[in-house]
Amino acid sequence: MPRRVLVTAALPYANGSPHLGHLLEYIQTDVHVRARRLAGEDVIFMWAVDTHGTPIELRARREGVDPADLVARMHAEHAQVYRDFGIESDIFYTTHSDETRKHAEFIYEKMQAAGQIEKRVTRQLYCPKDQMFLPDRFVKGTCPYCASADQYGDVCEKCGHTYNPSELKDPHCAICGTTPELRDSEHLFVSLGRFEGFLREWLNSTKLQSAVRNYVMRWVDDGLRDWDISRDAPYFGFSIPGYEGKKFFYVWFDAPVGYIGATQKWCDEHPDRASFASYWRADQSQDTEIVHVIGKDIVYFHALFWPAMLHAAGYTTPTRINVHGWLTVNGEKMSKTRGTFILARTYLDHLPADYLRYYFAAKLGPEQDDIDLDLADFVSRVNTDLVNKAANLASRCQKFLVGRLEGKLGPIPADAEPLMAKAREALAQVPALYANFESAKALRLAIEIGGEFDAYITAQEPWKVVGKDPERARAVCTAGMWASKVIAAILKPVLPKWAATIEEGLRLPAPLDFVNAIEPLPEGLVVGAYVTLAERIDPKKIEAIVEASKETIAAPAAPEVPAYTVEPLAAEASIDAFAAVDLRVGKVLTAARVKGSDKLLQLTIDLGPLGQRNIFSGIAASYAPEQLVGKHVVVFANLKPRKMRFGVSEGMVLASGAKDDAITVLELDPRSLPGEKIS
Ligand code: 2FM
Ligand code: ZN
Repeated sequence: MPRRVLVTAALPYANGSPHLGHLLEYIQTDVHVRARRLAGEDVIFMWAVDTHGTPIELRARREGVDPADLVARMHAEHAQVYRDFGIESDIFYTTHSDETRKHAEFIYEKMQAAGQIEKRVTRQLYCPKDQMFLPDRFVKGTCPYCASADQYGDVCEKCGHTYNPSELKDPHCAICGTTPELRDSEHLFVSLGRFEGFLREWLNSTKLQSAVRNYVMRWVDDGLRDWDISRDAPYFGFSIPGYEGKKFFYVWFDAPVGYIGATQKWCDEHPDRASFASYWRADQSQDTEIVHVIGKDIVYFHALFWPAMLHAAGYTTPTRINVHGWLTVNGEKMSKTRGTFILARTYLDHLPADYLRYYFAAKLGPEQDDIDLDLADFVSRVNTDLVNKAANLASRCQKFLVGRLEGKLGPIPADAEPLMAKAREALAQVPALYANFESAKALRLAIEIGGEFDAYITAQEPWKVVGKDPERARAVCTAGMWASKVIAAILKPVLPKWAATIEEGLRLPAPLDFVNAIEPLPEGLVVGAYVTLAERIDPKKIEAIVEASKETIAAPAAPEVPAYTVEPLAAEASIDAFAAVDLRVGKVLTAARVKGSDKLLQLTIDLGPLGQRNIFSGIAASYAPEQLVGKHVVVFANLKPRKMRFGVSEGMVLASGAKDDAITVLELDPRSLPGEKIS
């Protein structure tokens, strides 16, 4: 076991308010940290708000405030929400801090001295009105590949092609609409290729889920591209040494340094606890574990850039990265119109944090599968598992003891021993499950113990026995209280208040942990009155949350009748051009939304003997993923694979539609055979 463990969650971006997607990760991290502490490990949770970059700069301008004041305000809002959700980080600092700046500059200077930074002139779009270079997402225009209008500067949401913003047709500034011009600017690039050897070694030695290791290795195999770490003024961030006020570190350069900055601040404030060096200057030592919990969209930054930066400057490199999937609500991407884009504060306005902590933890496993918050299932899981099983056991036994038997505990009856042995065995597995991010399994064990002991109590009928044999009734309920104690210990990382209520009610001499939970309860001890552990969720609360989360869209004004125009015909083409297109029958095996794109769906298409294809298709506005699964469609099968922002697309599914929102996929007879040629 390492002597010390440092855990981080990704740093929330200060531009927006926390929503339930954020909470999924922070609850996962918090549960991991609390559980490892309960198991006796020395764990710190270092965290901060991520504050720099163009979105903050522009929002501050819009609001007419200083960006530093804006991030201070957002920091306070985030901190309060996380406190209310019981996320117990040791520090929730800010990346806009001297500590982070100092360490970011140090890393940069080390890289610079080692010749790992290159200067290169790049041509970029510049808005003469806003007087700034425009980041990719701040340019809009017509896709150079498929001519779809109103596309961002990095990727076409329609056809999925990636490009440089300067390739857009009719580009305009997304802030003011002005046509930008191309200007030269010198940028600083980290030559990532120089780290290839180190990265391969690190990827093989650090703890990563195997799927993650495989796809990161594939990125390395495909060739590491230089990374542009500079941005021109105006930019809210840290000036790059030597370019004060002119060039700034790109937000993704200093954001992870925020992990170090937070640790520096915390160590400075807790000199008695541990030295900063023992965490971040302990490379290759077995004593220190550094664990990053992140979502799958930011793996590139954490598993390539970040270890390279740390390695360059001699800091401890991460020993483990745990990647989780995305949160969906009711099986779909969170949506403002459906009311499923739920802000953390909106949830808290209606329901206690603990229910969501329980539900998320009860679904989270060690892999990066997406997690669905199915709102009906949420209600039923809380009501059946937590209330009807776990809480009911304590409630029946404790109320009965207090009401009928002076609250006094007795000896444990022999016939409860087999169940107790099972509970002890379950508890023994729990620390390792939590340490491996398998909270779903740990909680299932707790609920099973609850269900089994509850059934035992029902079968023994202490309320009937008590008249003839009060000591038997006492013994049976004492077994129930003992089980409630074991359950509370397992639930403790997820539901600390629940555990505290049991500790108090059973007058436990020491806080519950995974070891002392199995100790017998002293005979003759008088327990306190039952205090409610959990109450049923009224489904009306869910309706209220959804209602409060709905973004009402004003009814559009009566549209003006548009002039009827059509695009001019393209140049003539011969029949050979058409014959070169190999169309095949494809069967849709899976379909899923693509995070970060409103337009794309990711499809797995079966081409029979020709194998399976991964295809991105711009039809998300017209089809829910489940509508497509099983359909037989027309596939442009010899289309050259295209690398897109979200992965490689290996073909095209034919669909047509004159309007953006009315695309129809060409469907074939369901009896057609996948792979068959269409003539
Ligand atoms: O993806 C995000 O929201 C980033 N703010 C995460 C940063 S994590 C770390 F690198 F700071
Ligand atoms: Zn502009």
